[in-house]
Amino acid sequence: MRKNFGKNTFFYPLPVLIIGTYDEYGNPNAMNAAWGGIYDTNQVYLCLSSDHKTTDNIKKSQEFSISFADAQHVVQADFVGIISGYEVDKIKKADLTVLRAEYVNAPLFDEFPMSLECKVNKLQEDGETTWVVADIINVSAKEEVLSDGKIDLKKMYLISYDPVCHCYVELGKTVGNAFKDGLKLK
Ligand SMILES: Cc1cc2nc3c(=O)[nH]c(=O)nc-3n(C[C@H](O)[C@H](O)[C@H](O)COP(=O)(O)O)c2cc1C
Repeated sequence: MRKNFGKNTFFYPLPVLIIGTYDEYGNPNAMNAAWGGIYDTNQVYLCLSSDHKTTDNIKKSQEFSISFADAQHVVQADFVGIISGYEVDKIKKADLTVLRAEYVNAPLFDEFPMSLECKVNKLQEDGETTWVVADIINVSAKEEVLSDGKIDLKKMYLISYDPVCHCYVELGKTVGNAFKDGLKLK
């Protein structure tokens, strides 16, 4: 037996992306986005409400960063998702440490372990929604989350947004090897 839940935006796992932008005066802003992901090789997409400060900043600067939120900073990550940068200086209020991205005009936040630096490739507005496809120009990660010089997911304690319970869940353990385990059935 299965239970039907009808039409719902239920999808697992959803990321907790912290989108970093500068406005035209150079003020940094951050917002939480779950509706985003990989679009193609070295490309990401975001589905943004057109009335967000982040959307306006991206339209103007054509550049932004994506940081992956971790369990240690869940309060800050949620905060930047419930208040607009039009209302308060979220960076100051959440006490986030801004680092200027090396490859694009966007802020990175030192609290979050790994970030992407992105440049808009396509932007489409449709009423209340703005879709953004962007090229990944650079990936950076804090030294502390590396093992043998590579990014180590197990050291990052990244979180996922659960759209059913509206809660954040820490990503878990390694259970298999991609492109390898399936070969057992070949
Ligand atoms: C868990 C979570 C996920 C969210 N995902 C998105 C999203 O994918 N797209 C979007 O436009 N807004 C999303 N939001 C809402 C924005 O983060 C929120 O409206 C924010 O205040 C916008 O900030 P800004 O005006 O400073 O850009 C999300 C909020 C939360 C808490």
